[in-house]
Amino acid sequence: PAKSINTDLLVVGAGPAGASLACFLARYGLEGIMISAAPGTADTPRAHINNMAAMECLRDIGVYEECLRLGNMGERIKHYRWCETMAGEEYARNYSWGNGDRLGDYEMVSPCTHMDLPQSVLEPILVKYATNHGFNVRFHTELLGFSEDDDGKYTCLVQDRLTDVLYQIKTRFLFGADGGRSVVMRELGLPMTTLPGGGLAFNILFKADLTDYMAHRPGNLHWCMRMERDYPFMSVLRMVKPWHEWMMVFFPKGPDVPVQDLSHEEWREIVEDCVGVSGLDLEILGVSKWLINETSADIVSKGNVFCLGDAIHRHPPTLGLGSNTGIQDSFNLAWKIALVMRGTAGPRILDTYNTERQPVGAALVTASNDCLRDHIRLWQALGCAPYGSSEEERLKGSKELRESSKEGRDRRRLLKKCVDRMQVETHALGTEMGQCYISGAVYGNDEGQPFVLQGREAEWPALHYEPCTYPGRRLPHVWLGSGVPGPLVSTLDVAGKGHFTIFTGIGGEAWVQAAQSLEKELSIALKVVSIGRGLGWEDTYLEWEEKRGVEENGCVLVRPDFFVAWRAQGAEFAEGCTSRLRQVMAQVLG
Ligand code: FDA
Repeated sequence: PAKSINTDLLVVGAGPAGASLACFLARYGLEGIMISAAPGTADTPRAHINNMAAMECLRDIGVYEECLRLGNMGERIKHYRWCETMAGEEYARNYSWGNGDRLGDYEMVSPCTHMDLPQSVLEPILVKYATNHGFNVRFHTELLGFSEDDDGKYTCLVQDRLTDVLYQIKTRFLFGADGGRSVVMRELGLPMTTLPGGGLAFNILFKADLTDYMAHRPGNLHWCMRMERDYPFMSVLRMVKPWHEWMMVFFPKGPDVPVQDLSHEEWREIVEDCVGVSGLDLEILGVSKWLINETSADIVSKGNVFCLGDAIHRHPPTLGLGSNTGIQDSFNLAWKIALVMRGTAGPRILDTYNTERQPVGAALVTASNDCLRDHIRLWQALGCAPYGSSEEERLKGSKELRESSKEGRDRRRLLKKCVDRMQVETHALGTEMGQCYISGAVYGNDEGQPFVLQGREAEWPALHYEPCTYPGRRLPHVWLGSGVPGPLVSTLDVAGKGHFTIFTGIGGEAWVQAAQSLEKELSIALKVVSIGRGLGWEDTYLEWEEKRGVEENGCVLVRPDFFVAWRAQGAEFAEGCTSRLRQVMAQVLG
């Protein structure tokens, strides 16, 4: 190798996980290197559903507005449909992504909105922020392997793919955000749970103006099932740019059926058939393949090497959570790394990355594959056996759906049940927001009871999310007034930004003093937000009162990643509020 370079932070991968990690680290003023084997940011749209939980992380670093400007939301992503073809019969549709019947539920729990923003648009936003804030980004640069040195650092062998020059990067922290074929995970040899995969799928990117077919049933995902066709009949048409750029995700006949590569002309015919319009003016822009996986890492870090994103959770795009989860992996990890590097937190806090995020990743892998299995049940309700059903079987199902017979009624009932069930994908608010961390970075000892789901979330946890301040849950979003006429700000806007936050209210002076003295003593940013009449912030809709979960003079301690670290019901502690908070911070900071 020609040369050795030193850094504290080496991020391998510049996809949503790696690029967001570089941003979140850079927001703390940290400098580092991010490498990517690819020549540039994503050249195909790939991920597109961006949920509110991930957007809140991006809002924290100030790039949410740009996402909002470039993303599609509201009416354009209002429906999720099952149909014969884009132009043909519709079998069913659901409202999707916080629109229609769930609009209020979504608006109440986040200052951000669900949006469709292709990965190819998101990645440049992230890479730009990272490069502007202290990260050196190298594309065309591949990690070949790494070893741990005697001083606890890692020597990474990388290759510039343009010149073939090999060089070494020595780093204190190494981050494996290198996707589904992660070299970092492979080299670490960490255990992974892998179930049999679902085979291969194809992405066909194409241009065609489908405006006419979206006039009365707009949406970003449309499952097209041509019952009378014997070639693999199942595909999803996904809006990329409304309404003239699309991606067809195409599922071959079965996981074990070999698939030959088709020519662009052959793909053209299949796309045309799915749209249901012959002679359509369409152009194939590209074809790529991906694997339907069911794999998650049992352990996601070792020493000072941390893996995130698809490197640790590999699954189909159903639920649209891959990129979203990778961004939240990064957000969870960045503040812990920053505090350890500043010396204000002990290295034990880094173990909580594994404790908190591994279960989230593993649950995502199961949930997204279960969701695909739910889709298969819906296909069956329509008369399609998952793979390789005969034309006769498919047409029988189609005919029965129209029949006044017991078979017809049963089939229609089953279809309704299956479509209702698909809300686990189209309105998965609970799956997206309902995490509750149990770890050393959360102080739950003052809670009388373990966390239990409440209200609608208890009835159907995937669909509903009931915000609360139980330690380990997300800080509830509530709109606050500043005392003068003007725009309201979210509780999330006054928290985060790299600091811990203490929320208190009328009578909470002891917490204000405790925070001020500990801020100096621990050299940590500990901001106080006082909410109440005559204090800094107004509880405009009196919602904080409902959601704060403590008395007015109590406090809620929130971590830089918006998760509640601890709460105190009031201000009466025998040892005094400062001592109590010191004890809590000592545990949370490892
Ligand atoms: P990703 O694979 O994106 O990036 C890996 C990075 O590592 C790349 O920069 C690559 O160059 C680099 N790399 C790899 N090996 C390297 C090496 N040895 N050295 C250096 N660099 C290396 N998700 C979602 O949230 N919402 C959605 O709607 C969808 N929809 C969707 C549709 C389709 C069709 C697909 C195929 C996937 C999705 N996803 C999704 C999933 C989403 O695309 C996926 O989860 C994320 O891209 C994962 O992001 P990562 O950053 O972890 O890996």
